[in-house]
Amino acid sequence: MTMLAPTEATKPSSTPVIVALVSLAIIPLNFGVWFLAVDRTSEGIWLILFTALALLQFATGLAAIVGGFMSRKKGGSALAPALLGTMGMLGAGLGWLAGIAAIAVTGMGGAWGRPLRIRGKQLHPELKEGSDWTEGARPSPDGLDEPTRTALEALWLHDAQKEHASVPAFARISWLLAAVGAPADLMAWSHRAGIEEIEHTKLCFALAAGYAGRSFTVEPMPELLLGGLDAKGNALALLATESLSDGCQLEDFNADVAAACAAVCQEPVTRAVLERIAKEERSHADFSWALLEWLLEQDRETVERAVMTALTELDRYPRPTAVSRDKAALVRRAAPRKMLEHGRLPDERWARIWDERLVETRARVERLLDRGAARQRSAA
Ligand SMILES: [Fe+2]
Ligand SMILES: [Fe+2]
Repeated sequence: MTMLAPTEATKPSSTPVIVALVSLAIIPLNFGVWFLAVDRTSEGIWLILFTALALLQFATGLAAIVGGFMSRKKGGSALAPALLGTMGMLGAGLGWLAGIAAIAVTGMGGAWGRPLRIRGKQLHPELKEGSDWTEGARPSPDGLDEPTRTALEALWLHDAQKEHASVPAFARISWLLAAVGAPADLMAWSHRAGIEEIEHTKLCFALAAGYAGRSFTVEPMPELLLGGLDAKGNALALLATESLSDGCQLEDFNADVAAACAAVCQEPVTRAVLERIAKEERSHADFSWALLEWLLEQDRETVERAVMTALTELDRYPRPTAVSRDKAALVRRAAPRKMLEHGRLPDERWARIWDERLVETRARVERLLDRGAARQRSAA
């Protein structure tokens, strides 16, 4: 008996397997989008994209299974597309749920410190009961109802976590400064800033303790053992890029917000802490501006290019919000007028201050670059 080659009409189709592979290929893509969605205040766009990709993955997985069964009529196997398609569908569903859960518990809350990142991900210590980081005067909770006290405690604890993270963030900067041979005054300034962040942390814990009558402290941060220098590429360019966004823009903004909060705060202990933070955060921003100037003197071409790139990316920098997403429900239950009297401004005000600071940062960078260019011309 002669075997006949299958005609185009009877040949089993490989399309279901290809569709199933497409479904699986979307997993790493969606993971990348999820990574961009967390820790961003503009996460809405990323969230839509993340959900759209999960739906596409689910639909292609389903199409692969259906296509596999249809191709059986032509002698094809339904097993491979069914297995791969099911994996794609499960990946889409579980991935979406895990991603949404992760996004829900993250969210930038504002703070008065310099961000700490390990492998690109922002980090701060978790909390446990304890008082070894609680030091400073306590505010009076008189006249505050329970929800307002709880909200104020939560916000000051959040600030304490972020301030604490600033300490290793400055340690890392000091390390990098040594790597590029920075002068003693910049090195001392960086260490001083780290010490001030320790003081801010203790003061934030003390305010939280005053509002709630209980103390918290920090959990270990084993993630720091994974490294954290993340110093790939040109170190001068890296320091310039980070100085512009995390230092010049962010810490000047921190100082602006703290000063604005102090101006409305009627509780004397809290106001004194806000005033101190405002003053010292301004000094941290000044450190970054001074560092930027020194970096430009070392390698103008490389550093200027890095600064210009960082400047164009500043619009996408995640603005710290007045309340992180996980604290939003607590703050909604608090009395708005009392929150204001205790130095907590609404997020609209934070947004306005951020925009004003962006304009000022841009103008100051232009002045800095013009000054540097003029100096270079006169030297030539
Ligand atoms: Fe700072
Ligand atoms: Fe700070």
